[in-house]
Amino acid sequence: MQTDFLVIGSGIAGLTYALKTTQHFPDKKVTIITKASPDETNTKYAQGGVAVVNDLENDSFEKHIGDTLIAGDGLCNPGVVEIVVKEGPARIQELIDWGAKFDKDAEGDYRLGKEGGHSEFRILHHKDITGKEIERALLDAVKAAPNIEIINHCMVIDIITQHHLGYLVTKSTPDIECYGVYALNSKTNRIDKILSKVTLLATGGNGQVYRTTTNPVIATGDGVAMVYRAKGRIENMEFIQFHPTALYEPGVRGQAFLITEAVRGDGGILRNKDGEAFMERYDSRKDLAPRDIVARAIDSEMKRNGTEHVLLDCRHMDMEKFVEHFPNIYQKCLSIGIDVSKDMIPVAPAAHYSCGGIKTDEWGRSSIRHLYACGECSSTGLHGANRLASNSLLEAMVFAHRCYVDAASKFDEIKELPDIPDWKAEGTSEPKEMILITQSLKELQQVMSDYVGIVRNNVRLQRATRRIDLLFEETENLYKSVTVSPQLLELRNMITVGYLIIKGASFRKESRGLHYNTDYPFKSDIVQNIVL
Ligand code: FAD
Ligand code: SIN
Repeated sequence: MQTDFLVIGSGIAGLTYALKTTQHFPDKKVTIITKASPDETNTKYAQGGVAVVNDLENDSFEKHIGDTLIAGDGLCNPGVVEIVVKEGPARIQELIDWGAKFDKDAEGDYRLGKEGGHSEFRILHHKDITGKEIERALLDAVKAAPNIEIINHCMVIDIITQHHLGYLVTKSTPDIECYGVYALNSKTNRIDKILSKVTLLATGGNGQVYRTTTNPVIATGDGVAMVYRAKGRIENMEFIQFHPTALYEPGVRGQAFLITEAVRGDGGILRNKDGEAFMERYDSRKDLAPRDIVARAIDSEMKRNGTEHVLLDCRHMDMEKFVEHFPNIYQKCLSIGIDVSKDMIPVAPAAHYSCGGIKTDEWGRSSIRHLYACGECSSTGLHGANRLASNSLLEAMVFAHRCYVDAASKFDEIKELPDIPDWKAEGTSEPKEMILITQSLKELQQVMSDYVGIVRNNVRLQRATRRIDLLFEETENLYKSVTVSPQLLELRNMITVGYLIIKGASFRKESRGLHYNTDYPFKSDIVQNIVL
């Protein structure tokens, strides 16, 4: 199969790029591939909203830029921060024009929320289901566009480069080029080659590498792993953001329900088992300090008190307003016997967001030619060592636009594609035991959560390295001997991502932002990105 513009991923990044491209090139074919149903994305679960400066009387670009830089703890690229903050309003307007609705008050002004690290109320939201609304609007617009095709339940295995033509490709090969992808179509059970002059990776995050995460099952870091295998550049993987307040439900593994930070923005208070509002002891911004600080404070309280969670107290809040702003959270809590007006909500940190990823320049170009990356799988320089809340949806929109502008300007110059061989699957058989895959996944999640979580040290990282090396070896042997399945492909990718997180964490001999190593508790004077 050949297409003009290939998009991997159907979240906010992929869909925005596809819509812009088809508007510019109505006669060209745009193909979106997604490994699950089109709306099963991190985007769908976003709650708090989109941070954007829209009230110039009370807010300013300078303040949003300042808040982003402070959260990023010295590692943001200031030029990129300025681009995202200043181009944000135009991108939000386009999203609204495509049909996304954000909450307004009786006067017709947008209701603005506030989250940790923000100096002003600037977060546009749709109740507490902002992501669901954005995903709905974008998918509706994509379905109405005549030249966009979505192929779902089709999992990309690898990007195609000169390596697949028989050339030796290493990290130092100049001008590695992307010609498309190989993908496993779960409906036909076939591995197809899908060729394209331009490919965008918008494959989202990697929270599933950890035991507890706010991310859905699709978040397995596939794009990052594929680019690493293709010898492209990956950056700052050690900066995994743990959201401070995922709902704690005993016995629940995998995806945890999020209690948006906007609840604390509206007045929710964190308390420990003794009822103490402990954030006062950790930071003058208390419950609205940046996430790295709040998550570490919770982790410390849980360890000190031997508890598996802390409590979020909303009992003093105006319940009518609470239910209006957070209907989904209110209902979810009720469904498990928690009446927010009377009971405190048990919460604990959970892996939430990957600040690093595929290294790009300010046009979303990866280190591989004709391969772009945007959204959570990318590392653009916006987030630095810690992402400011609600900056992620904004970044995805701004960079989807930039990827489209650059790809559109280059498209006619790209030469015809070479002959690409079909996928080779000789000498493999059906897997005999799924447990080899499921157990390795559990081990990986255990290792990452226990040794490479919120607080790290050298001994933990060394242990994690040894265990991941073993998992890598066993999984590569399995991969070479059995027919590929989505589960095996995801496991392989997650092991690669785990390896990259551990490597980044081991190379960073300091504590900065989300990376906290008790053997190096201070920030180094040398400010550097770790590129693998
Ligand atoms: P996603 O939306 O995750 O989409 C990834 C796509 O890639 C999916 O379609 C997936 O199927 C596809 N894919 C992945 N691998 C493959 C493969 N191998 N082959 C084919 N397809 C593949 N950010 C904010 O700014 N504000 C918020 O309020 C907010 N709240 C959040 C709440 C939760 C619970 C979570 C989990 C995240 C939240 N975030 C928030 C973060 C934000 O939602 C994500 O960073 C953002 O939506 C990522 O968008 P994306 O398009 O990059 O990826
Ligand atoms: C939240 O609503 O707390 C999540 C916001 C984000 O991750 O940016």
